Amino acid sequence: MNIIETDNITKIYSSLSKSKSVTALRDFSLTVESGLVYGLLGPNGAGKTTLVKILLGITFPTLGNAKLFGEDISNYKLRKKVGYLPENHRFPNYLTGGEVLSYFAKLSCYDSPNLERRIDELLELVKMTRWKKTKVKNYSKGMMQRIGLAQSMINDPEIIFLDEPTDGVDPIGRKEIRDILLDMKNQGKTIFLNSHLLSEVELITDRVAILNEGKLIREGTVEDITTQKEEFKISADGLSLSIFSEEETSKFKVRKIDENKINVRVENLEELNMFIDLLRNRSVKIRSVEPQKSTLEEMFISLIHESENKKS
Ligand SMILES: Nc1ncnc2c1ncn2[C@@H]1O[C@H](COP(=O)(O)OP(=O)(O)O)[C@@H](O)[C@H]1O
Ligand SMILES: [Mg+2]
Repeated sequence: MNIIETDNITKIYSSLSKSKSVTALRDFSLTVESGLVYGLLGPNGAGKTTLVKILLGITFPTLGNAKLFGEDISNYKLRKKVGYLPENHRFPNYLTGGEVLSYFAKLSCYDSPNLERRIDELLELVKMTRWKKTKVKNYSKGMMQRIGLAQSMINDPEIIFLDEPTDGVDPIGRKEIRDILLDMKNQGKTIFLNSHLLSEVELITDRVAILNEGKLIREGTVEDITTQKEEFKISADGLSLSIFSEEETSKFKVRKIDENKINVRVENLEELNMFIDLLRNRSVKIRSVEPQKSTLEEMFISLIHESENKKS
């Protein structure tokens, strides 16, 4: 099932002076299937928070429609099934972690005689049981985010929106948060994650969308996005640069990477096979041909550059 569907959303934050109006999203369409950890990535100001706020009814699209659970987002009853951890959130600092959860349970109308048990379960999930009775003003940023994650789960939502959940958290704290997100996923939750921290997202997301200046520039699995279809690593016995002419080396951008291993860059499958024929004709024994991968971060930077070059 598609848990989120947006159809050509445009959001303009208008201002009395037209030159100061900001287009935060442009014709943005996206569908997200349930049960995934989905990452929305983009540099600061790309429009990520705006999208989440639209889906949650905190702000409204200028044009376009969106659905949650197959129903128009204007139906506020849908929000009972939604959890949310905003960016840069603040909890009343005179409350303890346990009291924060009880406060948010009341705000989300979670009215159950089992509330205390639910709070203890969530504290356990986010590994904060020890700190239940400590005031949040004494928490580190990572602990604050962990209580924030517990808060987003209090009403047992089907989908949880997390806006930059690991921003400002140290590496160990980030790892703890990633583990909690995976636990949440294993409980059958869909997680929609906004982040500008790519190396993090790569480790836990099933699919990602890359957003720049309000436009969707790429969508797919991390695997799809990071596989460079045109670059291959070839491993073969008897392979060395000396078996290629200068012309061939430059045409296929042949690069030695190790003993009996080279990298080649081709335009298409046809050309890859031409290159393999060439190797076979020179009695080279092929062991493997692998498409090359780059990190999400490298791909992200090249996609953002590409989209900026197109504009100019
Ligand atoms: N309430 C607002 N009024 C005017 N402009 C806004 C408002 N909220 C966000 N913006 C602008 O919209 C753009 C997208 O912002 P945002 O959605 O917060 O991006 P991100 O979360 O990707 O950093 C930015 O240029 C930001 O300055
Ligand atoms: Mg944001």
